[in-house]
Amino acid sequence: MSRTKIVAGNWKMNTSLEDGISLAENLAANHTITHPLMIVIPPFTHLMPVKSVLIGSSIQIGAQNCHQEAKGAYTGEVSAPMLKSCGIPYVILGHSERRQYFNETDELLALKVDAALAQDLTPIFCVGESLEVRNENKQNDFVLNQLTKGLFHLSSSEFSKIIIAYEPIWAIGTGVTASPLQAQEMHEFIRTQIEVKYDLAVAAACSILYGGSVKGANAREIFSQADVDGALVGGASLDAVDFLKIASGF
Ligand code: PGA
Repeated sequence: MSRTKIVAGNWKMNTSLEDGISLAENLAANHTITHPLMIVIPPFTHLMPVKSVLIGSSIQIGAQNCHQEAKGAYTGEVSAPMLKSCGIPYVILGHSERRQYFNETDELLALKVDAALAQDLTPIFCVGESLEVRNENKQNDFVLNQLTKGLFHLSSSEFSKIIIAYEPIWAIGTGVTASPLQAQEMHEFIRTQIEVKYDLAVAAACSILYGGSVKGANAREIFSQADVDGALVGGASLDAVDFLKIASGF
């Protein structure tokens, strides 16, 4: 996909079905434009009902994860072909909570990326360092390693389908946001590394989202940075008013 302004809401393991539907209804009624592109990412159980709510709206839908295998004896898992068959076009891969709590490695994530792309799903691929890594000023090497192992095996036409989300772990759900300058520095670094690996056109066309305590009150400042193409939002995406305010930050 070409470089696009995107506001994606990762609901994580939140909302009852009823609350999720009413959140989606509220967003569909109030976000009637295609710029920025709004994507809601509910839990698996809510995907189809929320998708129904969004029919006819400009809002897209995604899943929070998928398995690397297409099918089989993997109790509790959901595959990329299943998402495809449900008409779900986006999937988050490599969220730091999956890396941390479910031991997802870079090598596994490379397989998940391949599985998603094989079904024409668009991965929203998350990278980002811990506070410890940042305090040692090793965040660039850390993120480059994640990109290299998770994504840089792709051909340039495959890579062109990826959305990247830079989410410093120390900013997720903590109320601490990276400063606009910190976000810009990392986004620029990521774009440069894409250029080194592929070329300028591929780098220029890649949407790079920032994630970590984005709210209505700070979105505009973060979006003003040249290499920030939008946000992957957790907590604030559960509040329709705040999420709409974030979307109005462009
Ligand atoms: P947060 O989460 O907005 O609640 O910090 C961001 C994310 O995990 O994507």
